[in-house]
Amino acid sequence: MRDTDTPAPQTIHLGDYAPVPVTVTHVDLSFRLDPLATRVHARLTCERRGPGEMVLDGEGLKALRVTLDGAEISPVIDGDRMTIADAPDAFLLETEVEIAPERNLALSGLYMSNGMYCTQCEAEGFRRITWMLDRPDVMATYDVEIDADLPVLLSNGDLVGDMTEGHAKWHDPWPKPTYLFALVAGHLVPTTHSFTTIEDRAVELNVWVRPGDEGRTAYALDALERSMAWDEKVYGRAYDLSVFNIVAVDDFNMGAMENKGLNIFNSRCVLASPETATDSDYANIERIVAHEYFHNWTGNRITCRDWFQLCLKEGLTVFRDQQFMADARSAAVQRIGDVLTLRARQFREDAGPLAHPVRPESFVEINNFYTATIYEKGAEVIGMLRRIVGSDGYAKGCALYFEQHDGDAATIEDWLACFEEACDVDLTQFKLWYTQAGTPRIGVTEHFASGVWRLELTQDVPPTPGQPEKAPMAIPLAFGALDDGGAEVLETRVHVLGTATEVLEFEMDARPVLSMLRGFSAPVILDHDQSDADRLVLLAHDTDPFARWEAGRALAKDRLMRAVSEGRYFDAAWLDALAALATDGAADPAFRALALALPSEDDLAGSLHAAGVVPDPDAIYAIRRRAQLAIAERLGPDLDALREAMRVPGAYDPSAEDAGKRAFDATLLRLRTMTDGGTAARAAYDAADNMTDRMAAFTCLLEAGDETVAGRFEADWKDDRLVMDKWFMAQIAHAAPRDAVGTAERLTTHPDYDAGNPNRFRAVVGGLSAGNPAGFHTPDGRGYGFVADRLIELDRANPQTAARMSTAFETWRRWDADRQDLMRAALERMRDGATSRDLIEMTTRMLGD
Ligand code: ARG
Ligand code: ZN
Repeated sequence: MRDTDTPAPQTIHLGDYAPVPVTVTHVDLSFRLDPLATRVHARLTCERRGPGEMVLDGEGLKALRVTLDGAEISPVIDGDRMTIADAPDAFLLETEVEIAPERNLALSGLYMSNGMYCTQCEAEGFRRITWMLDRPDVMATYDVEIDADLPVLLSNGDLVGDMTEGHAKWHDPWPKPTYLFALVAGHLVPTTHSFTTIEDRAVELNVWVRPGDEGRTAYALDALERSMAWDEKVYGRAYDLSVFNIVAVDDFNMGAMENKGLNIFNSRCVLASPETATDSDYANIERIVAHEYFHNWTGNRITCRDWFQLCLKEGLTVFRDQQFMADARSAAVQRIGDVLTLRARQFREDAGPLAHPVRPESFVEINNFYTATIYEKGAEVIGMLRRIVGSDGYAKGCALYFEQHDGDAATIEDWLACFEEACDVDLTQFKLWYTQAGTPRIGVTEHFASGVWRLELTQDVPPTPGQPEKAPMAIPLAFGALDDGGAEVLETRVHVLGTATEVLEFEMDARPVLSMLRGFSAPVILDHDQSDADRLVLLAHDTDPFARWEAGRALAKDRLMRAVSEGRYFDAAWLDALAALATDGAADPAFRALALALPSEDDLAGSLHAAGVVPDPDAIYAIRRRAQLAIAERLGPDLDALREAMRVPGAYDPSAEDAGKRAFDATLLRLRTMTDGGTAARAAYDAADNMTDRMAAFTCLLEAGDETVAGRFEADWKDDRLVMDKWFMAQIAHAAPRDAVGTAERLTTHPDYDAGNPNRFRAVVGGLSAGNPAGFHTPDGRGYGFVADRLIELDRANPQTAARMSTAFETWRRWDADRQDLMRAALERMRDGATSRDLIEMTTRMLGD
């Protein structure tokens, strides 16, 4: 039970924002590092900005001494707040505290990972290091001195003097909020490159890793250099310090963190070698390196006034990393991948009890709002803005934003005002994208008569928690049309739907085939009852690659949903179309892989639920398998020849082109395994000379029930943490549903299972809750029990990761009454067993009471 003495968590409201009465302009820190007794001495240069008390944040600090202008004082310390009542106009506040990094299992603040010291301060970790105004609108320059018996001592900014063994001093000239502070100390080795900026500044680039991992840094460095050049070319933004450091850390709650001049990465998101990383790992590393680098301007130079503005930096930076990836790889494949992610994570979130606007209005724990809505939908909002004002308008608006707000802690209003001014548009209605939650549904009805083609468009934004009524939004719909032979008769145009119902008319010789929502021009759900014949035309001929893929997806989804709810089978026309695509040698293999992939189990469950059908996880699992078998049988003799054509000669290269071939080959191998019981996969496993091919074969063999492959894999890779994460996860995610919980339980007793490492925890617990839906949702509720128990346990040490992974239960209202009861009970148990604000808020919101 929850301790009844702990005060109920406070809700913070956007409307209550007020600037600080006393600010800090410079921070001088000195650290004497020790695992159990680190001394932190802080000297804060403070200035009064208005009337009121100075209230500093501190959490779990052992306060040793506080002085104001050199005189010892005894301020009121009430829990996590220290109040300085009568602060003068300008003064120096000094504090000394003691902290124990080794006992910091929350991985927030200063902690230890594999013998090295590191920090994670976003959002509110700095207060676990020392007393400070721990909020983003307080921006200060920093001087940091570190003493420790370790060879490498890093912090933000530029090194002052030398890094002698045991001592280093860093100066960061760029004013920054606390959340961008970082410190790293340990036995680390660098891989170094140099980069000269467009402004002719020489920059040293380092990727720091534990000895032994040096062979896995090349790709991240390469991605970093390309990101730097891209941001100069596309956004006119250059780097602004003499050094840019990246550090790989094994125990990390998230992907990576954009600390000024000292990015810290989860090792999974930075280390790669052909033998240990898959093509998706490489792509992920490229994207995250770019993302964190791009934050230097969108996040660091211009930061957020308060945490409600989180999407100001995150949505924009995701949009920028998506643009970068589209330029670096195939734009079409990138866009389809981005939409898949958005639908898998954000649409699911938007349809459930955790739905919230891109700019939320209140929160209890800000760490719970690093969500798909803030990040992915936030990026879509930027994309829509760009579509509405055009690429030139977008460039002008961005230029004005950088010019006007450099050095500011800004708001969404500031951002939008730049576009209103630069592009002379009124964005009042567009701003609803930031304030209204929920995925809009767009209805499309077509009529053709006497040479006039009529499109009737409707929009409806569903109610979400706290927002029963919605106003019509400004929704950019890109569309075009083909004739029934597949020739384009209407080129792409954008209509901004701004009211509940609108009618568009075109003069046409014959009824055309509508290609709606090209490029996925808005994050909406389309209700368009399009015929199979039309969809087949689009799948074969659409000039817009996204729309082409989407037509195939609609055909597949329609069939799978009907197979589940009406017991229908798969028709020859559909299978023929898939076979035509698969064997179309002119089509990009990566695109063919995407076109042959079926909608996920979660996607189908969500869509069935939205259509008023109670989804059955077992039926969904079975139907997908049956569809795969039908496709495999249809491709039959072509499969081996197609695989042969995907063979990549020569040494492994993570390029998009080779990766596309490997992805399609993996798709084909999975189909082959449906009909040969694993013979081809066994050969592929033995022949694999890179982790991409090896994992593809490994997961096929697990699905085929191969009893020995897990042991062989383990024998080969037991000493490699990142590869073993894959091993843990794959065995659970690719187990038969009835075996999934048992496998997960068994793996938690494996000597290498370590709940304290978020990657390992995610591999096992997420391997079940996200990786094996039918296994998680077995009717006996064992999956729910297993996940709830692990989360309650983890919550005591690491609330952030526990709370984040609790979203496995956000779909609970989707299922049948028995499963709903079981999931609700698990949620209640977690709520009552939770000790953190994080998990209490999440479970309470999910329960909806
Ligand atoms: N700002 C980091 C990034 O997007 C992520 C930080 C996540 N922080 C958190 N408390 N969940 O790159
Ligand atoms: Zn970010």
